[in-house]
This record gives sequence, C-alpha cells and structure tokens, in this order.
Amino acid sequence: MQGKKKNVIVGQSGGPTAAINSSLVGVYKTAIDRGADRVYGMLFGIQGLLEGKYVDLSEHIKNDLDIEILKRTPSSFLGSCRYKLPEIEENREVYKKIFRILEELEIDSFFYIGGNDSMDTIKKLSDYGTEVHSPIRFMGVPKTIDNDLDVTDHTPGYGSAAKYIASITKEIIRDGLVYDLESITIIEIMGRNAGWLAGAAALSNCEDCEGPDMIFLPEMDFDIEKFIEKVRNLQKIKKSIVIAVSEGIHLADGRYICELTETIDQTDSFGHKILTGAARYLAAKVIKEVGCKTRAIEFNTLQRCASHIVSRVDITEAFQVGGAAVKAAFEGETGKMIILKRISDDPYICVTDIFDINKIANVEKKVPREWINESGDYVTQQFINYVKPLIQSELTPIMTNGLPRHLTLKDE
Ligand code: F6P
Repeated sequence: MQGKKKNVIVGQSGGPTAAINSSLVGVYKTAIDRGADRVYGMLFGIQGLLEGKYVDLSEHIKNDLDIEILKRTPSSFLGSCRYKLPEIEENREVYKKIFRILEELEIDSFFYIGGNDSMDTIKKLSDYGTEVHSPIRFMGVPKTIDNDLDVTDHTPGYGSAAKYIASITKEIIRDGLVYDLESITIIEIMGRNAGWLAGAAALSNCEDCEGPDMIFLPEMDFDIEKFIEKVRNLQKIKKSIVIAVSEGIHLADGRYICELTETIDQTDSFGHKILTGAARYLAAKVIKEVGCKTRAIEFNTLQRCASHIVSRVDITEAFQVGGAAVKAAFEGETGKMIILKRISDDPYICVTDIFDINKIANVEKKVPREWINESGDYVTQQFINYVKPLIQSELTPIMTNGLPRHLTLKDE
C-alpha cells in the first residue's frame, strides 16, 4: 500500500544473557538495511509496552561503534520482564490495548527476543492478530542461557554462559589444589529444570585440567544419602574435590534441594520458583556428615552477564537470528520463531530456519538420558561434542580505562 509506514518494534523478555543485545542489534540493523522507517524498542518488554513505554532505537544507537559496543553489552539493553499475558478469552482488553498502541505506532512487524515463556507471548499475540485480521507480523527470536527451547539445536546466550562456566570451573579446580589439604567445593549453576548449563562444567576437562569430579543435572532425581557416599568414596582417592550441581536438582518426590533451605518461597508470574541455595544446602550437609573444609559457590547472575568472556560463535549466531527474524517477517511470515539447525559438529556448521511458534511456546527441552552417564553423576562424550563448538572463539571487549565499555540507554 503506497505511503504505508514500515515501522517495527522489538522487545527483550525473560532472564538476560551476554548475547541478547547482539540479537537486538541483528533486528535493528537488518530492519534499517531492509528499509524500515522506524525501529522502536519496548522498554521492559510487553509489560512496559502496555504502560506506553518505548523508545526510538535510532536515537540510542547512533553509529557503528555503538553497534559494536552494544553487541558486547550484557543484560537486556531495553530492560526485561517476566510477564504472562492472560488467555485471550479471559481478557481481550489487554490485547485491544496492545494492538491499539501498535496501530498508533504504525507497526508492520513485532519481534520478541526471549525463551519459552516469551514465545508464549508471541503465540498469544499472533493468535489474537489472526482473530482480528491484523496485518501485523509477530516473530520470536530465541534466547536463553538455559538452552531449554524446543526444536532449535541450541539457543543464543547458552554458548557464552557455557564458556564462562567451563572457564571459571577450571579456575576453581586450580584454586582447590593450592593447599596440601582435603577440600570440597560445590558449585551451583543455573538452568532451571534443564541441565544444559550444569553439564557445560564438563568442558573444563582438558589437557591441563581434569574437570569437576561429579556433575548433577535436574533430569535425574537426586539422592542425598548416595551423594554423601560418593563424596566419601572420592575422598579415598583425592584431596581436592569439585562438584557441579544444577540449581534445579530435586528429590524423587519433586522437591527442589534448594527448597530444603530456609529461603523464602518466591515465584515469578509464570509460576516458576526462584531457585537458589542447592550448593549451600549440600555444603552444610557435607560439613555435618563428612566434616572437611567445604565451600559452596553459586555462579548466580555472573554466568549470564560475563560479557568479558563471551563466545564469538554465540554472539554471531545471536545477531543472525535477529536478522533472520526481520527477513522472515518482511517476507510475510508471522507466528513463527527462528531456529538454529546444526548441519555438522566438525566442522561446525549451523544455519537458521523458521518454525511454528505453537510447537515451541511453553515447552522445556531437557538433556537426553543417553547424554548423562549410567550412574547419573556426569555427562557423556556426546554432550561434550554438542557443546564444544558453541563456546569457540572470543569477542574482545572494547576497553575504556581498563574496563569493558557498555552501551546504556540515555535518559530521554
Ligand atoms: O531463565 C534464565 C534464568 O537465568 C534461569 O537459569 C534462572 O533460574 C532464572 O533465569 C533466574 O530468574 P531471575 O532472572 O528472575 O532471577
């Protein structure tokens, strides 16, 4: 239609990663290169948009240097939310409001960078759009350190977090060897109900490091008594023991180990429990039962914001999925998410494709049983072969006064 504006809007949602802003840049740059009039960024995701909060991104990303810095900036540049849209039939007013805002901004395409909860948002918006015959296209751009999105080979953000986890685990193992004394270190790694991130600790096993002694993933039930027994057995053969546990490890009855601590129950709007404290709980148990020097180290948010040691493969793919989403939307696609399809491990070749959002939203992809060893306390070589290509190559930070430089939103 002549005179029709080609404006786009992009938002970031869910937990941040060190690569999410590279996807934002991928959307922004590709949209501009393909003739978008304006690229808006919603502040704090769909929740912020509902409150009328958005910016014109070209007022904040001014030149190629800004683009390069933003690719290297951790956390979500636009801010994020964990906001669950109501079911359409339960509250049409919310959808009317969102579409009114989008129409006022003359939006042609809407992009949401996020994990499985965020894809629920894309699914609902595209369903509503179809119902009211809206011409606006809705595309999901995958992201999550948890790597638990279905269909896609992996998610941008995972490779950089895995690289950080493997690197820091290697350093912790070195540190544990410093005294000629017995010590036990339990490291806690994010990932919710999937063990993709915790398994990445195995990558620290290389020519100059033997890697952690055990890795426990949430795909398997966790038995505290057996765990203590395994620790005692390890003590018979070595002094310094390093064990990686996923934040989501749980007992056979479903209770998370971290729930056995006295932390207050906290849940987000999708009903997910905030998981923290498994390592702390197990360290206290080890001290009581085994009685040697024991530390709990929770990687916590460090593993998702360590932009000084990102994987170049990850940052590049994060950019590509953003660009691919714009290309697909401008070619008429809607209600889809960009996926990564691995062609081969070695040489590592991966391409983008598009997939129906209905089959991805709200599904959690777990580590397959055959990628965990028989005794359930380590990952297999297949797992390692899968992750290794994703942590390759570096993207050096742009340094100012000895520190990595970040791009931040300037106040209006
Ligand atoms: O979904 C990514 C993630 O980092 C999970 O690994 C973790 O359990 C959760 O987010 C933490 O949530 P929040 O950012 O709300 O603390």
